[in-house]
Amino acid sequence: MAALDTSCLVGPVAFKDLNWKDEGEMETAPPDESADDIVASLPSNTTGPNLELRQYQGVWMLGTVVPGLISLQRHFRSRPGDVLLASPVKSGTTWIKSLTFATMARFSYPPCAADHPLRRLNPHECVPYMEEVFLHGQEAKLEALPSPRIMHTHLHYSLLPRSLAKCKTVFVCREPKDMVVSLWHFLNRAGVNFSFSEVIELICDGKNPNGPFWDHVLGYWRASKVRPDGVLFVRYEKMLVDPVSTVRELGRFLGVPFSAAEEAAELPMEICKLCSFDTMRGLQGNKTGSTGEFNFAHQSYFRKGIVGDWVNHMTPKTARRIDTTVEEKLRGSGLTFTS
Ligand code: A3P
Repeated sequence: MAALDTSCLVGPVAFKDLNWKDEGEMETAPPDESADDIVASLPSNTTGPNLELRQYQGVWMLGTVVPGLISLQRHFRSRPGDVLLASPVKSGTTWIKSLTFATMARFSYPPCAADHPLRRLNPHECVPYMEEVFLHGQEAKLEALPSPRIMHTHLHYSLLPRSLAKCKTVFVCREPKDMVVSLWHFLNRAGVNFSFSEVIELICDGKNPNGPFWDHVLGYWRASKVRPDGVLFVRYEKMLVDPVSTVRELGRFLGVPFSAAEEAAELPMEICKLCSFDTMRGLQGNKTGSTGEFNFAHQSYFRKGIVGDWVNHMTPKTARRIDTTVEEKLRGSGLTFTS
């Protein structure tokens, strides 16, 4: 397949469409050798189940991801127009990637277009995961993306390099009990065998990947209060209730508000239809294939897509434990997941 001629394209362009590997036009950056020494010196979670976590600058994360983060912190340079999506795992990342991509790409690809990238690619192939991009030395590919670029991270706000923290940022999070349930199913589908109680322990100890959860949400929450024009704080539950309002809000926040003509043509609704759980799950690019460092099956990103599935998985006592742990940490911040 020939590479796209990106010079004549207006972004965002799907990351996978740059097709750089086949062309062999860009070299991978050499790995940061000192990163391995840094990783080896970090506290590790040796008591947990079979996933090695390291604590870097106060945040627990997969040891394998830390070199990517270090490289990102050292080398990332933002561009005007860059958009960053951020989220804890299993909180609506796939959805916010597709909604943002569809909203920003609508001038080149109206949502009903048969050749829309989201009809053939998984959303994770459209919007790159920054830690992985830098882990694999794909900075040149990121550089080749035409502006505006859309990028994603699971990093805490405190870990973002200054240049990235300046980008327009959309953060999505989810009620933690539903997030835990989603994570447990996802890991099991991926062959990482955690018991449900082990995942609960990880979350309540703050030692989940990209934990503690409360620090993750608080970082972006506070940033959204200090810089409302720079950080948009979105909740999965609200998106489910009213996705069209979320899309309008995304458009306004990202500087591409929907015009009266676009509203009359029901474009926000068309975008929501394209990115809905049922549509996405049925598309070929999401039914087959896999993505990323751990080869997660595309279909594993679409399970139920509902609010409140936790009642089918945990006792009231366990639910109270998560609620209490999280609420204690959030006290005084104005952010809550229990009301
Ligand atoms: P469940 O496991 O509760 O169903 P992430 O994308 O951050 O990995 O989050 C995955 C969760 O988002 C899963 O939740 C998945 O089903 C849900 N999801 C994925 N695409 C969605 C969509 N278009 N609409 C609503 N929920 C979606």
